[in-house]
Amino acid sequence: MVDRPLRVAALASGRGSNLAALIAARLPVEFVLVGSDKAKAGALEIARDAGIPTVAMTPKAFPDRVAFDRALFGAVADAKPDLLVLAGYMRIIDASVVADWEGRAINIHPSLLPKYQGLHTHRRCLEAGDTEHGASVHFVTAELDGGPVVAQARISVGPTDTEETLATRLLVEEHRLLPAVVGAIAAGRLAWSGEPTFDGKPLTAPLTLADL
Ligand code: GRF
Repeated sequence: MVDRPLRVAALASGRGSNLAALIAARLPVEFVLVGSDKAKAGALEIARDAGIPTVAMTPKAFPDRVAFDRALFGAVADAKPDLLVLAGYMRIIDASVVADWEGRAINIHPSLLPKYQGLHTHRRCLEAGDTEHGASVHFVTAELDGGPVVAQARISVGPTDTEETLATRLLVEEHRLLPAVVGAIAAGRLAWSGEPTFDGKPLTAPLTLADL
């Protein structure tokens, strides 16, 4: 039984197109905070325009990574979200800080995980000669882009594709996939019981948009 809107916080480092897609999806959620490690991130502008509280913190104002992570994730925790969405958040998070969010944080990554964790996924896909590419949404764990994958969207890779054409086509799928996953969490269908569950059963394979 879902008795109140899911409280959602997001972290983003860049333009925030995934955040914009989440907002535009008009899900039964309440956005409680958007945070960033970049004061000029487009995502913060998008949040402000949507009337969502924002917070920006600058890593170099902190003595080390864990101090920054504790401060930013502390601000997120103060907003009391049910779910934290990393929507284009480009920093590696200290393991001790991530541990507090087990089962409550998801990330969208532009590859068919476990392939191509980390950066430059489109280039690596092309260099490998893959005929398929895609995006993955996973629960966040201390391992970079290594948490349990809950949903994936796929695109074909053509002979004339470049990093740019792949990124552009994949973003369209990302903008469908992330809202669908957050919607499933808001509806209580996708959840965490030490592992991802869907409709009460352990998730044995990533969901697709057709499942959501
Ligand atoms: C997206 O490809 C996302 O998968 C990755 O960062 C890129 C930019 O995201 N994590 P956005 O446009 O800032 O949402």
